[in-house]
Amino acid sequence: MEILGIDIGGSGIKGAPVDIETGELTADRYRIPTPQPSKPAAVAEVVHTIVKHFDWSGPFGCAFPAVVQHGVTRSAANVDDEWIDFNAVDLFARTTGLPVCMINDADAAGIAAMAHGSGQDLSGVVLMLTVGTGIGSALFIDGILVPNTELGHLKLNNMDAETDAEDYASDRARKAEDLSWKAWGKRLNEYLQHVEFIFSPDLIIIGGGVSKKHAKYFKYLDLKTKIVPAELRNEAGIIGAAMAARDLAVPA
Ligand code: BGC
Repeated sequence: MEILGIDIGGSGIKGAPVDIETGELTADRYRIPTPQPSKPAAVAEVVHTIVKHFDWSGPFGCAFPAVVQHGVTRSAANVDDEWIDFNAVDLFARTTGLPVCMINDADAAGIAAMAHGSGQDLSGVVLMLTVGTGIGSALFIDGILVPNTELGHLKLNNMDAETDAEDYASDRARKAEDLSWKAWGKRLNEYLQHVEFIFSPDLIIIGGGVSKKHAKYFKYLDLKTKIVPAELRNEAGIIGAAMAARDLAVPA
């Protein structure tokens, strides 16, 4: 079955129809830069453009970089503050005229990884971390997602109220502070050791923009837990968003 998946990020909004049984995109992905400021109405217009680009008329799934509870976005770390406590599912459904399912972007990437990527068929505690502009997290226990874990907002050391782990160890921090892979790898290691201490996971999957560059920094990681790069790379959010919308297409 094909479902359209859309992944909304701080810099780009990407979509493609997905064969949710195989996890493969069935058409080239279409990307539009995220409007700045990234206010709901402007983002909804871009989502509508992507829906029209694929001439889509069925349900679709949308991954979003915030806490998403029952279609309502509850936070806005890397998007406009208007998204806080905003009924996003209602706006997107009204704008496109189609049923839509909203999910946190890291949770979407994790769902894709557990079904079609590095986490395939794994039981136990599996933690997917997407490292990009922010740090997103998706926690699975015997394949069941615990949604909205938001582990990028943990505090490390003596961080002040304004600073979170993602401000220190995300790929945005690496670029903004012009850190070497070694310096940044050590920061990431500090973060991962903290997360490892809290959850004792069986596996950590690193997704997001830096997953394909893992050879540059995995050597600086000193963990007890097995750690692997995500296989689905940048497309995991799109695939997971489409998979999350399955129940809209096949009512229980
Ligand atoms: C947000 C998360 C999101 C992550 C990755 C964080 O700043 O709070 O909801 O999953 O960035 O986009």
